[in-house]
Amino acid sequence: MAVLLQGSPEEIKLLSEWLRADQVAALPTETVYGLGGNALSSDACKRIFAAKERPSWDPLIVHVDSVSSAQDIVVWNEQAQRLADHFWPGPLTLILPGRGKVAPEVSAGKSTVAVRMPAHSLFLEVLKVSGLPLAAPSANPFGYLSPTRAEDVQTMLGERIRYILDGGPCEVGVESTIIDLSRETPRILRPGRVGREELAQVLNTDVEELLADAHSHISDAPGLAPWHYSPRKPLRLWDSELESLPELQAGEWLFRTRTVASGSGEQGIALFSGKQPDIEAVARNLYHALLKADRDPECTQITVESPGEATALHKALSQRLRKAAARYPIR
Ligand code: TXA
Ligand code: MG
Repeated sequence: MAVLLQGSPEEIKLLSEWLRADQVAALPTETVYGLGGNALSSDACKRIFAAKERPSWDPLIVHVDSVSSAQDIVVWNEQAQRLADHFWPGPLTLILPGRGKVAPEVSAGKSTVAVRMPAHSLFLEVLKVSGLPLAAPSANPFGYLSPTRAEDVQTMLGERIRYILDGGPCEVGVESTIIDLSRETPRILRPGRVGREELAQVLNTDVEELLADAHSHISDAPGLAPWHYSPRKPLRLWDSELESLPELQAGEWLFRTRTVASGSGEQGIALFSGKQPDIEAVARNLYHALLKADRDPECTQITVESPGEATALHKALSQRLRKAAARYPIR
């Protein structure tokens, strides 16, 4: 079991020293918990890959506490400045040409580096006190659901890491939007809460979106493997706008994202409270609910109501769920 830290000044100091010694620790961000380590150290990065069983071809995001720390690591440009002014700290990762400063494991053979300034006060404190840029992928075993609670990190990686900094439930609940600024036309590699229209507006230019669907190819963007973000139990999507509720098998759990069960005979657990759909609440609860279902022996398979595509956050959740459903499809 890992030790849960609450973030007192002494604990932040201890964690910072731990990270300066090239060890790794789970840290809270506003999106999902990350597994952090010194981005300048190959030893630390190798520990991250080992704990997650992450293949070495999949590059890491470097977390920084300021634009000037980002500028030490990547070749900054005007588009990056605009986006950072507008969205940092926050759930947006920028891909830019590297400066050869970070450990080679971070870029996994690419010439670019992904950078982001997270919006979580405890993570920012660790960055400041340690004085390090921190590489941090989501704190899950490779390909699995991302953790949005300290207890979920404990469940997933508790046997493999020493410390988890508990920053409460993640406010966003889905991983950052990733935009590649290293090319002529900026391109979104992973959808997140910050959407294409918003990005295009701030940049005042076209923004492309990689069609990151269930079957997009790994070489387009390494983390877009067909079955990312997946529970181990079979998962299917139910489009409540197009079809009536499919018949549920014994042990099949249903999660609702936009409708609530209206009668006592109706099934399903809403991922938001109250009668009004609330996509922000759905995002905060989704991974946690899926993890619970995946671990509960009573649950044999999972159906999730499709969130639809109404906003950037809806689209991001739909993309994650399509991938989850692609792993062990129910036929
Ligand atoms: O919200 C987030 O971004 C969270 C929190 C912890 O910050 N982190 C996260 O990291 O989701 P990870 O490693 O689970 O996903 C990062 C994705 C991977 O799919 C990786 O392939 C991609 O970013 N990536 C990283 N560097 C890249 C690069 N230079 N070029 C293309 N893709 C890159
Ligand atoms: Mg991940």
